[in-house]
Amino acid sequence: MGTGFARRWRLLALALLAAMAAGCATGRLDATKPIGQEAQDIDFLMRLSGWMAVGVGIFVAAAVFAIIVKFRAKPTDDPDDLPPQIHGNRKAELTWTIIPTALLVFLTIFTLPTVFALADEGDGRTIKVEGQQWWWQFSYDLDEDGQYDIVTANDLVIPTGEEINLEIHSNDVIHSFWIPQLNGKKDAVPGRIHDWRISSDEPGIFYGECVEFCGLSHANMQMRTIVLTPDDFERWVEEQLAGKAAAQALPTEETPEAAGATLFETHCISCHVVDGAYESAAGGNANLLAGIAPNLTNLMSRTAFAGALYETYQTGPDGAYLRNPDGSLKLNIAELREWVRNAPDMKPARADNQQGMLDFSEVLTDQDLDNLMAYLKTLGSPPVLP
Ligand code: CUA
Repeated sequence: MGTGFARRWRLLALALLAAMAAGCATGRLDATKPIGQEAQDIDFLMRLSGWMAVGVGIFVAAAVFAIIVKFRAKPTDDPDDLPPQIHGNRKAELTWTIIPTALLVFLTIFTLPTVFALADEGDGRTIKVEGQQWWWQFSYDLDEDGQYDIVTANDLVIPTGEEINLEIHSNDVIHSFWIPQLNGKKDAVPGRIHDWRISSDEPGIFYGECVEFCGLSHANMQMRTIVLTPDDFERWVEEQLAGKAAAQALPTEETPEAAGATLFETHCISCHVVDGAYESAAGGNANLLAGIAPNLTNLMSRTAFAGALYETYQTGPDGAYLRNPDGSLKLNIAELREWVRNAPDMKPARADNQQGMLDFSEVLTDQDLDNLMAYLKTLGSPPVLP
């Protein structure tokens, strides 16, 4: 009995350790390795105040220790004697008022300009960011005519060397947008627009998470910022527009793709948009809940799906993308297919409350799923990677 108990405790300790190690293993949300200027400014303040606190801590600990040693009671002392009282000692009072004040003033001199600078709008393009239960949508108005030309999800794609303005919205409850390596956290609040700036001189993929509790799948509401060189970014824009043009023409031959498009029209278009396609379908009932679910126009161009919880393309243990013999990325077809079959099994959701995708496991046959996959594969070209 006793050993069983001990074993259980040991197992619990091991499980806790494993969970902690797993938390560290991805290292994807690391505010201590800032890349963007905004994140670097925040990091500087964090380190400055951190080291000042360490200095104060060491000083106070040393002083306490010295006082304990120096003023400890001697065997010859009368236990009824009080030590000398310092109430009203002007020198002491001034010292412990002036030193902390000076430290705080010093910190303020560095903090204030950064706080104001972070509130400034950048001089680059504006991208609309919308948080919803439980994924992020990003919309680009390329010609600034008030119409969004590119609407995507999970992957926020930006060019290097540009101060991007994010207009952060929420479509339901309060979320918070955080890409730790690019900037701090900014709340997404229903009925408000919060401006936020991000930039990076380094191409790369920077991961983020919703950091305001927003319901069941809050922990599964992730996003990534994909920073490309200006040339690559232009290529991405061109491919998005080309994908959009191509998606408008639905496959018509008797192919699995065409069968998939028909299934998509039956089961998917009340929530999911494919720009320009299906608009006259379903007796005008298409996209009834548009905006509730991700716009799928260029699905294949995204590195992740399901709130960036799953990779669209297969990665190895080191996180690098696996490739087919011809060099193309290996589609993560198994998880994508399973997601379409039974999404609530892969990410907690409440589809009955328009929060997350429905369970189609009783609706779609294996053949249907294969056909839908064939159609989804036609939506957009592979992602442009940094
Ligand atoms: Cu959205 Cu937490």
